[in-house]
Amino acid sequence: MKLHHIGIAVKDLEAAMKLYGDVLKLKLVGVEEVPEEGVRIAMYDAGGVRVELLAGTRPDSAISKFIEKRGEGIHHIAFHVDDVDEVCAALSSAGLQLTYQQPKLVSGGSRKINFINPKSTGGVLIEVLTELRKDG
Ligand code: CO
Repeated sequence: MKLHHIGIAVKDLEAAMKLYGDVLKLKLVGVEEVPEEGVRIAMYDAGGVRVELLAGTRPDSAISKFIEKRGEGIHHIAFHVDDVDEVCAALSSAGLQLTYQQPKLVSGGSRKINFINPKSTGGVLIEVLTELRKDG
């Protein structure tokens, strides 16, 4: 298990991109909109570990609700694993509550992800993921 990225909830994606890109000089990996989740994502490389900026695109999205309740800030941490299906099966057997019954394909099928409910982890939302393609 290897730290892959830190997800940060932001209100204004452009403003946050100025900070992480222009000021902190992290390298932009890509920007993606996920309409079904109501979120826009900007991914930066920070020396191997990534920073994922997440902005809600509608008030009822999970990110918008998170910001309304808790304010902007760190939203989740993500670990890369070799086989997310196997890891999720083991986590379920250990009694941890996962967001999706089966890991979900995202980013045009380039990665498979799931989340461990923060109620199972002492308040930290943990994402587990497997990159299926190197260019993804
Ligand atoms: Co993430």
